[in-house]
Amino acid sequence: MTRHTTILAIESSCDETAAAVVRDGREVLSNIIYSQIDLHTIYGGVVPEIASRKHVEKINQVVKSAITESGLGWDEIDAVAVTYGPGLVGALLVGVSAAKALAYAKGKPLVGVNHIEGHIAANYIEHPELEPPFMCMVASGGHSHLVKVTDYHTFEIIGRTRDDAAGEAFDKVARAIGLGYPGGPKIDALSKEGDPKAIAFPRAFMEDAPYDFSFSGLKSAVLNYLNGCEMKHLPVNKADVAASFQAAVVDVLVDNSIRAAVAHGCKTLTLAGGVASNGTLRAAMKEAAEQAGLHFCYPSPVYCTDNAAMIGVAGYYAYQAGVRSGLHLNAVPNLAIGEDRTCTS
Ligand code: KG4
Ligand code: ZN
Repeated sequence: MTRHTTILAIESSCDETAAAVVRDGREVLSNIIYSQIDLHTIYGGVVPEIASRKHVEKINQVVKSAITESGLGWDEIDAVAVTYGPGLVGALLVGVSAAKALAYAKGKPLVGVNHIEGHIAANYIEHPELEPPFMCMVASGGHSHLVKVTDYHTFEIIGRTRDDAAGEAFDKVARAIGLGYPGGPKIDALSKEGDPKAIAFPRAFMEDAPYDFSFSGLKSAVLNYLNGCEMKHLPVNKADVAASFQAAVVDVLVDNSIRAAVAHGCKTLTLAGGVASNGTLRAAMKEAAEQAGLHFCYPSPVYCTDNAAMIGVAGYYAYQAGVRSGLHLNAVPNLAIGEDRTCTS
């Protein structure tokens, strides 16, 4: 009989309370997500204190469901993996504390996982052929990075945003045109009814750092456009604004990703993070990757936005690389990609 390595994973870095059981880094046996989105929508964004309190309320139920649904017993779980950063400190602490308690009570090793490395690892779930090295465009609510995945547990940052993350820009523009939170999926849907060429919003390219991004100028251009329409008493076609804004973001993400992959000798390009579920981005990146002769893949939407299965995958590879965190593991809200703070207090 093959000996499997099975990870119980916990994720609570923002507004999803999630737990999953993952086998051998590729097979998801259960993936439970309690989303708090409805709770935060009325405030127009995530309220950290409310997120922490809800995580406390839900974490035990979510973990219990993940284990029940996996059909396994604790004796078949090899380690407990948990997101310890980056994210909201209060939210992270709930997951970290729960994971420590379980690891201690059940006598299992604890493995601290970087949330962004988790997003990248989501690609392994549905693409058994995928292995490093590859280029990954990570675009979430708090992060936009171009990362060269040099090995399962080693990363090189090739480009980053200078200001807003791509998801943040989606959320701010959505708020400005009255679509509410979270903005990404709403802009994605509304754009289908709009003309992406209706308004010429700027595309920012950095001369000194060819793979970096900047979205704050684009965001200001959208706000200026809306103010201009209001002052001149002109009607605003929200679908055209959404489609034109989205096209500007997609152009920059696609252009930078393809150039980075080619320049760094990667044969494969992947997407990760909440923005990776954007339909226009996926289609445009696919077309550009094909033209550049790159193999291209991305996770299903459920593995793009926050979930614990991706933490179970990253946790498996960290566990295989020898990461053992100990009960002094702390939340690290500003944890960088590739940084290891699992052994510091
Ligand atoms: O990765 P994620 O779930 O959480 C973070 O780690 O931040 O990403 C959430 C972000 C939000 O900004 C949300 O608006 C954006 O991903 N997002 C999208 C789409 N779905 C989620 N952005 C564009 N198009 C989408 N379909
Ligand atoms: Zn995330």
